[in-house]
Amino acid sequence: AIPFRLNLAGMAQFALKPAWAINYFTHEGFELPQLDEHVDMGGGTMSISRYFTEMLDPSMTWDDVAEMVKLWSGPFCLKGVMSVEDAKRAVDIGCSGIVLSNHGGRQLDGSRAAFDQLAEVVDAVGDRIDVIMDGGVQRGTHVLKALSLGAKAVGVGRYYLFPLAAAGQPGVERALEQMRVEIERGMKLMGCSSIEQLSRNNLRFR
Ligand SMILES: Cc1cc2nc3c(=O)[nH]c(=O)nc-3n(C[C@H](O)[C@H](O)[C@H](O)COP(=O)(O)O)c2cc1C
Repeated sequence: AIPFRLNLAGMAQFALKPAWAINYFTHEGFELPQLDEHVDMGGGTMSISRYFTEMLDPSMTWDDVAEMVKLWSGPFCLKGVMSVEDAKRAVDIGCSGIVLSNHGGRQLDGSRAAFDQLAEVVDAVGDRIDVIMDGGVQRGTHVLKALSLGAKAVGVGRYYLFPLAAAGQPGVERALEQMRVEIERGMKLMGCSSIEQLSRNNLRFR
């Protein structure tokens, strides 16, 4: 009964927003060309969402990641780490970087934000591995806060994807320029002339 009810709700949404349905039927279907050769998604929207659920492989272990690090034999950055314990394991198996990330809170929306884990992870492994962070970075000051806590870099997902969807390449260029301007303005207001001058002295937690 539940899938049927969901379908009804979905169809009601389509009925209320006819442009969605028109777009769906008159535009090219959603594609992930990078995966075309590797995964048979059958084309439909539902099969793509099923793929995203099923690609989370619970049988993967740290040994598998260690093997990948060895096979890659170059700088290896592990994404999705959220705890000190896992950050230490990433160091032990030879990763050169980690991305503290809860994938933008899109999968497990109740999980802690990567930013909240940043200080303790940097304190534990920051001298042995590059700690990068992503999730919720939307303004220059967000970047400055993460770098001040000890991140080597931050990642952005939706910050560039939304402008890409709305305006293509010019949209992304404008967003990146906006970010650059905000970072520079924030640093000027903080009295910092280089990234090295960003430190925890800049921050107060309430
Ligand atoms: C449409 C979309 C697809 C994503 N797919 C993946 C993925 O396959 N694997 C992954 O580790 N993270 C994935 N992410 C998460 C991003 O890599 C990144 O961690 C997240 O977007 C950062 O948060 P932000 O969007 O708030 O900047 C995806 C994000 C979006 C918006």
